[in-house]
Amino acid sequence: MGKSIAFLGLGVMGYPMAGWLSRNGYQVTVYNRTTSVAERWIAEYSGKYALTPDTAVHNAEIIFLCLGNDKDVEEVVLAEHGILAGIKPNAIVVDHTTTSASLAKRLAVALSAQDCGFIDAPVSGGQQGALNGQLTVMCGGQLEYFGQVESAITCFAKAVQLMGPVGSGQLCKMVNQICIAGLVQGLAEGLNFAERAGLDAHQVVDVISKGAAQSWQMENRFETMLAGDYEHGFAVQWMRKDLGFALDEAGHNGSSLPVTRLVDSYYAEVQELGGNRWDTSSLLARLKV
Ligand SMILES: NC(=O)c1ccc[n+]([C@@H]2O[C@H](COP(=O)([O-])OP(=O)(O)OC[C@H]3O[C@@H](n4cnc5c(N)ncnc54)[C@H](OP(=O)(O)O)[C@@H]3O)[C@@H](O)[C@H]2O)c1
Repeated sequence: MGKSIAFLGLGVMGYPMAGWLSRNGYQVTVYNRTTSVAERWIAEYSGKYALTPDTAVHNAEIIFLCLGNDKDVEEVVLAEHGILAGIKPNAIVVDHTTTSASLAKRLAVALSAQDCGFIDAPVSGGQQGALNGQLTVMCGGQLEYFGQVESAITCFAKAVQLMGPVGSGQLCKMVNQICIAGLVQGLAEGLNFAERAGLDAHQVVDVISKGAAQSWQMENRFETMLAGDYEHGFAVQWMRKDLGFALDEAGHNGSSLPVTRLVDSYYAEVQELGGNRWDTSSLLARLKV
């Protein structure tokens, strides 16, 4: 039998990630705040579900989290029936939520007081990467703990890298989001320009995606963007959270992020259009108003 694992948070990302662990022979206990989702998960995969975080982690050697934001993680870890109330010594918590680096450091201290380890491990690759088991995972924490969780993470990842001490995974993810923000805006502007210039935008992408303009966003998002379909993928609300972390951190380390700040304000406008849960490629919707 594989290691005993708890997976908390069966959202767009967590649901398939937990599924990959089950498929690879781990004994998985899932927890989701909305229980019907956990019921659906155990109907689809081999495993159990628990009604509270503390009972979910009771026997777990590794505890995976994939929640929304800092506040959600704090609740699930620190609340009355949270993880700290049920965790056994020597267990390791791996947090796949994208959070602030400061939260990662605080959690590592709280877990260490209970003789447990912590790895911050935000992911990149989107819903498709989670479904295909092809995520990229950026980790922060002690090498000793990383060595104990790396092979489990590999069940849903094509790349797993320890970046440095606790918080380094989150800092790396901030770089990832900074790089994406301006790029998606550029793609939205390009597609909008193509259409307004009377070009066949599909044909344009067919040509330019073979050259220097090519990107993951272009390959994976241009069709849905041109169709105006944004009900999928990585939610604008989560992108704004992530850009907020990057802008905060830049305030501390002195980086200049003018484009990131501008694109963040564009996402605020997308939210005003009703796009809180739309995919981040919905920057194009703002240009069409
Ligand atoms: N989606 C992507 O493409 C993508 C890509 C890379 C990174 N991420 C990051 O991965 C994380 C998860 O994203 P997602 O798209 O999977 O989000 P999601 O679909 O909104 O799922 C969030 C999950 O967290 C649970 N949750 C939220 N607040 C909670 C609380 N206070 N207590 C207990 N459970 C709570 C939700 O439970 P309920 O079902 O009860 O709401 C749900 O299971 C986020 O930090 C996001 O930034 C997402």
